[in-house]
Amino acid sequence: MNGVGIDQLEIDRLEQALARRPRLAERLFTAGERAYAAQRARPGQHLAARFCAKEAVAKALGLTAWDFRDVEVVRGEEGPPQVLLHGLVAAHADALGVATVHISLTHTRSDAAAIAILG
Ligand SMILES: CC(C)(COP(=O)(O)OP(=O)(O)OC[C@H]1O[C@@H](n2cnc3c(N)ncnc32)[C@H](O)[C@@H]1OP(=O)(O)O)[C@@H](O)C(=O)NCCC(=O)NCCS
Repeated sequence: MNGVGIDQLEIDRLEQALARRPRLAERLFTAGERAYAAQRARPGQHLAARFCAKEAVAKALGLTAWDFRDVEVVRGEEGPPQVLLHGLVAAHADALGVATVHISLTHTRSDAAAIAILG
């Protein structure tokens, strides 16, 4: 466990991967994450940030293999994003004594990035 994790991604790389593999979005993202992105002008921008958040959380928790949907980014129309952990990732965090996982997301036209900090 590192306690902190960071990840960055070129948005068009994810967009191309999603276009090539139609089922990839369902494997990586929860229904809520896909719905949030679908309502925005460029869904790939928000999906890329969420992909980064999942990778950043995995780095913070010291995970190398996990179900991407077990790390879910949720947020309302306003306010910061939050992370919900599910399944084996939640169990792993519990075993480590991790009470909270904080994240912050950002995106430009080209890249998305996220940082995760364990509380
Ligand atoms: C939140 C804020 C700092 C985002 O900055 P930005 O440069 O526009 O956007 P970034 O690309 O860096 O970050 C976008 C991400 O910030 C996150 N975010 C949004 N609101 C947030 C908040 N209040 N606190 C922390 N993070 C927030 C979201 O996760 C968003 O990504 P997502 O839509 O994919 O979930 C900026 O919108 C802001 O200052 N908001 C304050 C409230 C405000 O001004 N509202 C508009 C009134 S007209």
